[in-house]
Amino acid sequence: MNVTHLECAACYLKHEARRLLNLCRECGKPLLVRYDLERAQATMKKESLAGRGADLWRYREVLPVDDDANIVSLGEGWTPLLQAQRLGKKLGIEKLYIKDESQNPTQSFKARGMSAAVSMAKELGAQKLAVPSAGNAAGALAAYAACAGLECYIFMPDDTPRANVVECEQTGAHVTLMAGLITDCGAEVARRKEAEGWFDVSTLKEPYRVEGKKTLGYELAEQFNWELPDVIIYPTGGGTGLIGMWKAFAEMQQMGWIGLKRPRMVTVQASGCAPIVRAFAEGKRFADEFPDAATVASGLRVPKAIGDFLILDAIRESGGTALAVSDEELLAATREIGAAEGVFCAPEGAACLPALRKLLAAGKVDKDERIVLFNTGAGVKYLEAFS
Ligand SMILES: Cc1ncc(COP(=O)(O)O)c(C=O)c1O
Ligand SMILES: [Zn+2]
Repeated sequence: MNVTHLECAACYLKHEARRLLNLCRECGKPLLVRYDLERAQATMKKESLAGRGADLWRYREVLPVDDDANIVSLGEGWTPLLQAQRLGKKLGIEKLYIKDESQNPTQSFKARGMSAAVSMAKELGAQKLAVPSAGNAAGALAAYAACAGLECYIFMPDDTPRANVVECEQTGAHVTLMAGLITDCGAEVARRKEAEGWFDVSTLKEPYRVEGKKTLGYELAEQFNWELPDVIIYPTGGGTGLIGMWKAFAEMQQMGWIGLKRPRMVTVQASGCAPIVRAFAEGKRFADEFPDAATVASGLRVPKAIGDFLILDAIRESGGTALAVSDEELLAATREIGAAEGVFCAPEGAACLPALRKLLAAGKVDKDERIVLFNTGAGVKYLEAFS
């Protein structure tokens, strides 16, 4: 389609697009997909989007698959942007929104990334896919691999929410539970992948999950009628969604769909695992590994992210910030959002609410701004956390 090449996000080295690649061959950092955006916008006009399908493939021209026959789709994307009126009233905010990603296939925003990544893996000839996961990425990969007819191998910490383990088993994945964290699972995939013939679909260690996730940015712009919000509050683990949205904003600006204005990007982490918050506060470009990572919000239990510098760049360039909330706060927020809005959030998504309260108290967000909270997943997958 319109892909021109892959480009290293750190050293900008160009890589060929039509090959199965993981990281930059020079510096080992993530690769990003680059497009001929002039060509893309020749057939994709923002006015013409209204008639397109209600899934993320409506942005087909800026997605990487060459042949439509390789698209692996379960109906991901085009999730509701809910106006949180009752919650907003409690906070004194009129323009408060929840982007409800729990309404995706496999009930989380991970479906977006995996739809794109599995489509590309299929197109470029991978047979067996492997991933370390905190839970939701595993459930999404298992589903999309099944839909594509590919084998998939999943490695998760042994205290991952049970729903994530069961959903992978029931969609035909090979599941291994490991003592330790997602980083230990990632090391196991890296150690075995060559001998086993696995393609590693770890977050940001292949170029395409971020392409699926970037549609969050396209959707927000379209749902807000091409006027981006003032503030985006996003629960950050590996950071793919935040990095993807930031990339989408740049692409849309290049196509003339939006102007220079960017939302302030706010990263929320759990106080038991907050490597990005710490690096932001210390003014560092890369984040050190966070020791003894622990939180019930399993998707935020990512002690070291390979895309750390991309998350931190986006936060800083946007004038945003990074802050942590406690498990107590984010669990209480799940019930508060649920009772006020009828959305049973994943604890990761619920973390946005105490973060917003702290931002208001610190004067970093004004009550008359347009604010989006990201509910990245479904609370129903975390029953252990609520018992
Ligand atoms: C529900 C949920 N929210 C947020 C995250 C963090 O996502 P990202 O890697 O895009 O920062 C995850 C990752 O597992 C998740 O499952
Ligand atoms: Zn590089």
